[in-house]
Amino acid sequence: MGFNVAIDGPAGAGKSTIAKLVAKEMNFIYVDTGAMYRAIALYLLRKGIKPTDKDKFASECQGADVSIQYVDGVQQVLLNGENVSGLIRTEEVGNMASASSVDGKVREKLLDLQRNLAKENDVVMDGRDIGTNILPNADVKVYLTATVEERAMRRYRELTEKGTECDLETIKKDIAERDERDMNREIAPLKQAEDASFIDSSDMSIEEVKNAICDLIAARK
Ligand code: DC
Repeated sequence: MGFNVAIDGPAGAGKSTIAKLVAKEMNFIYVDTGAMYRAIALYLLRKGIKPTDKDKFASECQGADVSIQYVDGVQQVLLNGENVSGLIRTEEVGNMASASSVDGKVREKLLDLQRNLAKENDVVMDGRDIGTNILPNADVKVYLTATVEERAMRRYRELTEKGTECDLETIKKDIAERDERDMNREIAPLKQAEDASFIDSSDMSIEEVKNAICDLIAARK
């Protein structure tokens, strides 16, 4: 078993930014489980399935095979052998991932992939159910969050910097909807594990959050 760090939290809390930095500092691999759900979402969207087609997710996702590779230390997501890492970062795919990850069959497809990575490697794995469901015995668990306003503002800045036109109120509404769905679904909902450390990053710098998590790891090593 590798040394396992689980970071869960809502959309836009900065999980991936922080998890990448922590992984680099600790020389662990970073596993982005959201990207795996996004790959399945892309597969469903390509089949013409919509986020509201709930009863189609289970049967239609069966042909999707998700795997990952590391190129220069960066996770690449493969969907049936195609590298889709550059195609899964849109709001459309993110919203579809939130909708389709409610389905037990979709989640089942990714369970072994995630657990095996953690068994074979020292990992920082981020997602929604890592500390509660995927790696209940993780060495360090963190629940990382920030206010909806702050998370929306971060995403707005990120998109604007990339030159993507966007509207702050729409982003805020999308994030609130995603929270609602991710936290209230029946299977593996987003919630803080009892033994997770709670970090609200609203008023913290990236460096401060990274250091807080590295301190938690150092205390367990
Ligand atoms: O972290 P993200 O925005 O890339 O995740 C996209 C969606 O995937 C998220 O809204 C819910 C789902 N997800 C999940 O259900 N469980 C995970 N461990 C990771 C993501």
